[in-house]
Amino acid sequence: MIILSIETSCDETAASVVKITGSPASPSISVLGNALFSQIKIHEEFGGVFPALAKREHVKNLPPLLHKALQDAKLLKVSKEIQISSAQKKKLDTTLNREQGAADALYSLFSNIKKPALDAIAVTRGPGLEPALWVGINIAVALGKLWGIPVVPVNHMEGHIFSVLFAKTKNLKLKTLNFPLLSLLISGGHTELVHSKKKLQYNTLGQTRDDALGEAYDKVARMIGLPYPGGPEIARLADTNRKKKTPSTRWSFPRPMLYSKDFDFSFSGLKTSVLYATQNKTLTDADREEIAKEFEDAVTDVIVRKTRKALEKFPSKTLIVAGGVAANKHIKKNIEKLAKNFPELKVFFPSKELSTDNSVMIGIAAFERIKSDPKLLKQKAALKADGNLHF
Ligand code: KG4
Ligand code: ZN
Repeated sequence: MIILSIETSCDETAASVVKITGSPASPSISVLGNALFSQIKIHEEFGGVFPALAKREHVKNLPPLLHKALQDAKLLKVSKEIQISSAQKKKLDTTLNREQGAADALYSLFSNIKKPALDAIAVTRGPGLEPALWVGINIAVALGKLWGIPVVPVNHMEGHIFSVLFAKTKNLKLKTLNFPLLSLLISGGHTELVHSKKKLQYNTLGQTRDDALGEAYDKVARMIGLPYPGGPEIARLADTNRKKKTPSTRWSFPRPMLYSKDFDFSFSGLKTSVLYATQNKTLTDADREEIAKEFEDAVTDVIVRKTRKALEKFPSKTLIVAGGVAANKHIKKNIEKLAKNFPELKVFFPSKELSTDNSVMIGIAAFERIKSDPKLLKQKAALKADGNLHF
């Protein structure tokens, strides 16, 4: 099965072609094409993602990225006889009228191209920024109509869960996950603990009541004068401070909801306490490093304790940690330490490259969905973006 997958939920525009071979019980994956454009530099001056700008950039960048992914996968066969007919053109115009400019780009890129050998087009339908999600969906639907290929919607968070199944190499066996399974999803938009008794079944145990963990990293980074995205910056400074082994620090921050009886999180109070502690103060580099370490220690304590409580109450054979913040070495080290207390438990983190948003994970999630419900390839229902999509 060959899937073209599209991801535009936030500030990464991505298109991939993944090929899945082998038996359904033991599939192998090859990434035939993978093109990604990160808008980080564009959003940097706003200190966060600016939705209208994200949408504009997706419209501009997705058509050429799709072309590149398909070309790298050697799926673009040029034929001078093939032209997009005026009836087809009208259909595409209607599908794409909300994405000004995308229709023209698709005509010029794909006008003389034979139908590529694809079984499905997968696209993120949520959660994420709705204007951004719509770009991926409308372009996926337009190409689906043009070539007569089914379009399969994917939950972005399910994509993050499946991002741990493979590394980005050729012909890699997808790892097998044992159930029950607990997922700790920590990204710029989400912080949640989700329990799965079976594959593709999810029970959300708890989630953040305000800021997501990555968002807290980004906001605190901004407060102390670090560039966006703040997660890797804070992690770097925290690490520098740890290596110095400075004994005490004048900064100390709360661990919100550490002892609450549920599995919810809250990071806005912690963020505010960093704000109050640093307001109107001139910070030295040493201060920044200490703040970064204290902040990271505080969030790690909360994340690790809640995960431990969840594992105690919902015994699991697998723990998946995924989402952009899963790239954090300190959190990873502490989760791995925690896991040693559960001898049956196997822990999976995504590779660094696949921890942040990408479209390979969207292709794999679509494959898992199609495998469990082949009717998905026949469905004709209209596809809609859902910024608040839940499991
Ligand atoms: O999953 P992702 O790419 O996008 C969303 O779906 O939100 O996650 C992005 C988030 C950002 O907030 C970024 O600061 C954070 O992941 N992040 C990190 C690290 N690398 C990325 N946070 C902490 N430590 C890191 N090493
Ligand atoms: Zn994400």
